[in-house]
Amino acid sequence: MNKDSPGSSFSNSRDWRERLSDSREQGTGYAAPGGEFTKALFEWVAADPKGNLLKNFFAGQRVVELGAGMMPYGYKLAAACGARNFVAVEPFYSDIQKRSIQSCISSEEGLPRIPFKVIGQDMLDYLRDEPDDLLCVIACGIEDCILPGPDYRSKVECEIARVLASDTFFLSSHSDLYPKDLRALELTYPRPSNPRVFDRLRIHGMSSAFDCHESLVSRLTAQFGEAGRGLVRPPS
Ligand SMILES: C[S@@+](CC[C@H](N)C(=O)[O-])C[C@H]1O[C@@H](n2cnc3c(N)ncnc32)[C@H](O)[C@@H]1O
Repeated sequence: MNKDSPGSSFSNSRDWRERLSDSREQGTGYAAPGGEFTKALFEWVAADPKGNLLKNFFAGQRVVELGAGMMPYGYKLAAACGARNFVAVEPFYSDIQKRSIQSCISSEEGLPRIPFKVIGQDMLDYLRDEPDDLLCVIACGIEDCILPGPDYRSKVECEIARVLASDTFFLSSHSDLYPKDLRALELTYPRPSNPRVFDRLRIHGMSSAFDCHESLVSRLTAQFGEAGRGLVRPPS
């Protein structure tokens, strides 16, 4: 499949059920339609003072979203937080993802514009082509049922740890991706559109990233510690 082109066979099929069935045959993941997980993270960061603390993690970074789905919330998150640019990796809905970002750019006044790309490739192939120590990565709603299996997942986790820039994080919201060699901070946040639902967010990074954002991490830890939620593995 052409890396920069949304022109895979999936682009020609309008029905998500057909895309799901095609993705099963391909065997590199499931074209499960989005569950608004990226939207929830964007809205929490935009609206909640605790979520707002995460803004600095993205500032000036090259932000990549794995499994971006159909909606433009990864772009909106990156743009609103002052990222340098944004890449949506989405093998099954890249045509829709691209149109969503374009329409968001033309309709949303006040949202800073940043360069973006939509890549119609699966996340493992995409990550393997990236150099070391360069990116800020997000994954929302990438649960085990989406990926082809534990072997694929652990290869993706190793690649995420390799490509992650030393001064930023991998943000894994409502997602089972968990790079074992990185430190992790886990918290849960109320979904802004339905505060009875909580999404689990893990913030993974090297020691250097936790050092670089020490005061922010302390504020997050203190605030979530009070609510009985906090560190999974302390960034010591
Ligand atoms: C549950 S949806 C979440 C979409 C989006 N993050 C959201 O919250 O709206 C999972 C997404 O992962 C994509 N996906 C499945 N397998 C993938 C793979 N191997 N590489 C990249 N994305 C994949 C699916 O096409 C789908 O868009």
